Amino acid sequence: MRKFLLAAAVTLLAAGGGASCAFADQSAPASASSTQAAQDGPIQPKLQGNIERNLPDEPLVTARHGMVVSAQHLATQIGVDILQQGGNAVDAAVAVGYALAVVHPCCGNIGGGGFMTLHLADGQNLFLDFREKAPLAATEDMMQNAAGQVVKGRSTRTYLGVGVPGTVLGFDEALKHHGTMTLQQVIAPAIKLAKDGYTLEAGDVRILDTSTDAFRRSPNVAATFLDHGQPWKAGQVLKQPELARTLEMISEDGSKAFYDGPIAAAVVKASEANHGLLTLQDFRDYTVQWERPIECGYHGYTIYSAPPPSSGGTTICETLQIIAPYPFAEWGFHSTKSVHYFVEAERRAFADRNTYLGDPAFVDNPITKLLSAEHAAELRASIKPDQATPSSEVQGSLGPYQATNTTHYSVVDGKGNAVAVTFTINSYFGIKQIAGDTGFFLNNEMDDFTSKPEVPNQFGLVQGEANRIQPGKRPLSSMSPTIVMHDGKLFMVTGSPGGSTIISTTMESILNVAEYGMNVKQAIDAPRIHMQWWPDQVFAEPGAFAPGVHAELEAMGYKIRTIRQMGDIAAIVVNPKTGMLESVNDPRYPAGEAAGY
Ligand code: GLY
Repeated sequence: MRKFLLAAAVTLLAAGGGASCAFADQSAPASASSTQAAQDGPIQPKLQGNIERNLPDEPLVTARHGMVVSAQHLATQIGVDILQQGGNAVDAAVAVGYALAVVHPCCGNIGGGGFMTLHLADGQNLFLDFREKAPLAATEDMMQNAAGQVVKGRSTRTYLGVGVPGTVLGFDEALKHHGTMTLQQVIAPAIKLAKDGYTLEAGDVRILDTSTDAFRRSPNVAATFLDHGQPWKAGQVLKQPELARTLEMISEDGSKAFYDGPIAAAVVKASEANHGLLTLQDFRDYTVQWERPIECGYHGYTIYSAPPPSSGGTTICETLQIIAPYPFAEWGFHSTKSVHYFVEAERRAFADRNTYLGDPAFVDNPITKLLSAEHAAELRASIKPDQATPSSEVQGSLGPYQATNTTHYSVVDGKGNAVAVTFTINSYFGIKQIAGDTGFFLNNEMDDFTSKPEVPNQFGLVQGEANRIQPGKRPLSSMSPTIVMHDGKLFMVTGSPGGSTIISTTMESILNVAEYGMNVKQAIDAPRIHMQWWPDQVFAEPGAFAPGVHAELEAMGYKIRTIRQMGDIAAIVVNPKTGMLESVNDPRYPAGEAAGY
């Protein structure tokens, strides 16, 4: 009765009742999280509720000692168990990451890469880059045919789309430097889940079913991810014995098993058999990188987020710098004025993102200039007070419209550590293929590179020279694992999946709490908007604007495109009044859970 009981408690508390709960019968929660109805915050105009938007009403969860929120409830519970056993947030983050590779196989992974932003008890703020790298044999035009045309699907569905995975080395590095437990301890729960299996819920099955046809095309994938050729159903148990064996090898031999052992050999063999470029040298040469996070101030808050090869932190900070002087709180959440200035700031920050940013090992990223007060003032001065600026009038090359998958999770322990992790195999299930009997999906992160300047790939991704394919280079990302501090204390850990919309989703989660005074549930439930320069459209979830605001924005020249939903936020906020940790599962992803103790 996992979620039914929690949701029922909120239904009783909610004025007028009527909340519905779409969850199947589940096992009882292991943690002692408490729930409460959301407080009314100073939100204007009144938000359209989740019931009208056909989303379940998820309860606000509070905890004193530690909290984990992720897109899959079993992974969340494993993180909470590790914290309760005395592990710190890094131990829990690695355990959750490996668990997500089993129970959230679309996105959680060992076949991809990601970023980790850390705030440590000693006050350090750190960033770990374990993004995939292009194979050494990669070439700038490898996604094009002899006529110079980009070949549809080559970067997303073939072995040419696979970058050298970084997750296993990234987790190893984080654990060695800042964890307290052994790899064997933190990977054991994931091995058990893969070996013994786990009961699928409606939310899990919904994601698996996005790729049924692709699974049918690969017998080794179908053997695990289909039930005798048919999609798995809620209530059935999914076992992954091959993935269990791969995880056992990592447990026994550490990252060597992955990068210089049988796992690399199996991936290279499958890559060679399928016209891919991966070699054993690519795996042996793979490295992860500690970087300083991007840092900026906003209305008394300090934001630490992802530096290049992510564009996330830079674009968030540049947008916030532009809007900082405007009285958004006074204007109100998603009022005509606050939407206008937010969208115009994003339009300009994304123009810079798409023109200038790339892997810092290859490109000189002009971060100081992009985040300077002078640059913000220059861009602010170009915003017309009562009119949208056409994107054609904003300098730079064309911009991206990315695929919308990936996964983010947040962990806070009782010792003063906080960890934000966003990791990905890019599209749901990456290239949707598994090398031999390794049991894990391979990423299609090569699709995050520029396949050809100014030519969109199948997701509409159109980028410039700074992000062209080069051997050993990391593709530009939008992943934005973010930590927000206030008065020197931890305030918020946040992030999201969703390609380029990650940047807007993460930024709106911060603005909703820090600027509009929402609690974390209200901030996450609230409908979101996104503008990325090109296409020249404002993406908006249903209910994002009051009808009058919608009409006013259109009269100002905005083209508004309603999209079903943007990425799910996994955020934890420290309530400044009570000191309690607060979180909620984003109702956009019903398989997820926030839990603590
Ligand atoms: N693959 C999505 C991103 O890194 O932005």
